[in-house]
Amino acid sequence: MAHKKMKGRAKQQGGSIKKSLRSVVRGLKAEKNRKQAKARNKKMALEEEQPSADEAMAEEQAPAQSEVPAAPKMTKKEAKALASAERAHRNLYSAGERILLVGEGNFSFARALCKELGSGVGVYATAYDGEKNLKLKYTDAEELRKEIEEQLGGTTLVGVDASRLHAVKEFRGAFHKIVWNFPHMGTGETDLEKSAAEHRQLLSGFFKSAYRCLNTENPNCAIHVALKSGEPYKSWKVVQTAMTACPELELYTAVPFATSAWPGYAHRRTAGFDERFSKKESEELAKGAKVYIFKRRREAANSDDD
Ligand SMILES: C[S@@+](CC[C@H](N)C(=O)[O-])C[C@H]1O[C@@H](n2cnc3c(N)ncnc32)[C@H](O)[C@@H]1O
Repeated sequence: MAHKKMKGRAKQQGGSIKKSLRSVVRGLKAEKNRKQAKARNKKMALEEEQPSADEAMAEEQAPAQSEVPAAPKMTKKEAKALASAERAHRNLYSAGERILLVGEGNFSFARALCKELGSGVGVYATAYDGEKNLKLKYTDAEELRKEIEEQLGGTTLVGVDASRLHAVKEFRGAFHKIVWNFPHMGTGETDLEKSAAEHRQLLSGFFKSAYRCLNTENPNCAIHVALKSGEPYKSWKVVQTAMTACPELELYTAVPFATSAWPGYAHRRTAGFDERFSKKESEELAKGAKVYIFKRRREAANSDDD
């Protein structure tokens, strides 16, 4: 009996030791997961070139196509608001204007713009990458460029640095609108402060250079920068950066970036398109994005008339 009792206690003790070990292991695992998730989230907040932990999980857990529930129907009010945002975004551009697009990814925005205007004449779409890198990053870029040039009458250029636009003699004083949709260096810098400072510097160089390429005789000339909402983009302080870099500029207005206004536009990351991380269409913009519109300060425009 005594032996039996001992065994029983030993068993009980063994059981509770196992239990507490299990809970320690569980605790350690949870802590590890928490740390990994935190590190992942921090990285993602800074680097838009990889999917966030949430996005990756959402993708893993995404139901099979047949199980995807139909998107909730828009209310009349929502549909009206969307139509109005689309109109406001499209109305930023008019046929006959000379429009310079910088930092294009796969040139899908450029194609959509040319189609919307009814012609690509006057549209100059440029990418930072050279021919070789562009092909590697965006397999559809070549075809889109061909369509822009051969069917729509637009111009495409590669190897164009947004902060050296003025170095192209023909660009100086030439454009009504200069547009950079979703600037990003894609360096993978994980330090929030450092990354923000680098992007402020990039934007600063862009505003200085772009201003020299505006046709300032046209009162509607403007520089447009589209940015996603929230961090890390908020820390780039685009308005302050523009006005410091180029005191002749002021923020005129900001309108929602209405993806649906541009059929065929598919947002691309600086690192290129990768089936594993990238969303095919422009879902990454679903959380909201704005086009910031900078025009010449009234005093700057008036001083030209003096
Ligand atoms: C997030 S992607 C956006 C691409 C495209 N505009 C879109 O909306 O899908 C950022 C783009 O900025 C470009 N970029 C980065 N540094 C640049 C620079 N110094 N001059 C011009 N473009 C640059 C990248 O090559 C990339 O195409």
